[in-house]
Amino acid sequence: MADFLSIILAAGKGTRMKSEKIKILHKAAGKVIIKHVIYTLEDLSTKIINVVGYQKKEVELALNDFQDLDMNYVVQEKQLGTGHAVKQASEYITNHSGPVLILYGDTPLLRKETVAEFVEEHQKNKSDLTVMTAVFSNPVGYGRILKDDSGELTAIVEEKDADQDIKKIQEVNSGVYCVDSKLLGVFLKNMDNNNSQAEYYLTDLIEFAVERRKNINTFTVPDSEEIIGINTRRQLADAEKVLRKRIINKHFDNGVTIIDPENTYIDAEVIIARDTIIYPFCYLEGKTIIGENTVINPHCRLQNAEIASNVNILSNSIIRDSSVGENTNVGPFAYLRPGSKVADNCKIGDFVELKKTEVKSGAKVPHLCYAGDAEIGERTNIGAGTIFANYDGEKKHKTKIGKDVFIGSDSILIAPLKIGNNAKTAAGSVVTKDIEKNKTVMGVPARIYKK
Ligand code: UD1
Ligand code: MG
Repeated sequence: MADFLSIILAAGKGTRMKSEKIKILHKAAGKVIIKHVIYTLEDLSTKIINVVGYQKKEVELALNDFQDLDMNYVVQEKQLGTGHAVKQASEYITNHSGPVLILYGDTPLLRKETVAEFVEEHQKNKSDLTVMTAVFSNPVGYGRILKDDSGELTAIVEEKDADQDIKKIQEVNSGVYCVDSKLLGVFLKNMDNNNSQAEYYLTDLIEFAVERRKNINTFTVPDSEEIIGINTRRQLADAEKVLRKRIINKHFDNGVTIIDPENTYIDAEVIIARDTIIYPFCYLEGKTIIGENTVINPHCRLQNAEIASNVNILSNSIIRDSSVGENTNVGPFAYLRPGSKVADNCKIGDFVELKKTEVKSGAKVPHLCYAGDAEIGERTNIGAGTIFANYDGEKKHKTKIGKDVFIGSDSILIAPLKIGNNAKTAAGSVVTKDIEKNKTVMGVPARIYKK
């Protein structure tokens, strides 16, 4: 496929979303809307120009993941319409000879395969202009596709400019176009804003091309839902549903068992290996990665969690920005807060909260515990009810516990604190000073126990 130029319109505010945040930065299936659009271009040999306006810094930040793509930004200071938005990329259009692909940043359901096929069609037909369309049983809100008696595209009329007859037309404009750079360049110099919205409509390009007797074609997507444009929260929810279904199907194809697909919520960027089982009412979010043969039991929420193979995450556990090693059990009702790292063969039991805590191989924190800013050594056992008192009212302090340590039930470990290998605390100890290796302490405050 020949190299082409892609322009993505992402400068609008999205007033219909009624939000502080511009609409293309809202998330659908855990991924900002515009990322879904850029993703369709990932495998194509194209230079991408994003037209940004509102919250441009945030848009650039959201697209940081696409470092490998040839991507540039142009700014549309005033949002005077989709035609005016494309005009901001004039410099790139003039320097490019061949097809220009234009996409709107608010269509997250578009598939990679569809975009590739669309560009191929355009080139195969030696088109000057190809418009992607879809047929909707309820076309309200979209620009309508006008065709003459021989079925040739003659114009696109926006809902707000349409009369009753035009409103009945069910074929709509998707906002995806492929157009020859020269034709586009001339149009941008000549377009006007004589319409109900006083906007420079990109859709006027069609009549402009018709007047010049250009080779114009339409490409109708078989699956109309692909071109749903997000203008309102309702459309966002519709898109979310479609995306989630697609994501679940992808995991089925990869050999993942999802007991109840209707009640499982998996974000677009989540990776799950085969033979893993996901029970209902789980939320797998962000960049969560799950290994093979792992079980995620009902009502768990994993956000950017890295879960290895053969892990059992029991019900009602929450894991955020943390990792869990192989053959480890977590939960029920465990809360792993950001920065926690649980190694292999560990047990994190019920009502255990970890924050920025490393639990090394074979260690156990089986019941009712808070551990924050801590390191727990290999094979160490933390008794039920233990509290790592990491906060003195002003600062957070660290606790470092060595290997094969036994912390008795209901111990309170006052940080900063170091506990040597093989040390022990008796039940109910309040440990205020470091404990050397092999020593046992007891009492309040804890003192060395001598036989
Ligand atoms: C647009 C089309 C309509 C089509 C529909 C498909 C026009 C005039 N109308 O309508 O025919 O059926 O999309 O979803 O093109 N934008 C800018 N700068 C602007 C205005 C818009 O960058 O000045 C961006 C927006 O951020 C958005 C995209 O262009 O990503 C489309 O704008 P939007 O306002 O959503 O157009 P629609 O009313 O949906
Ligand atoms: Mg739109």
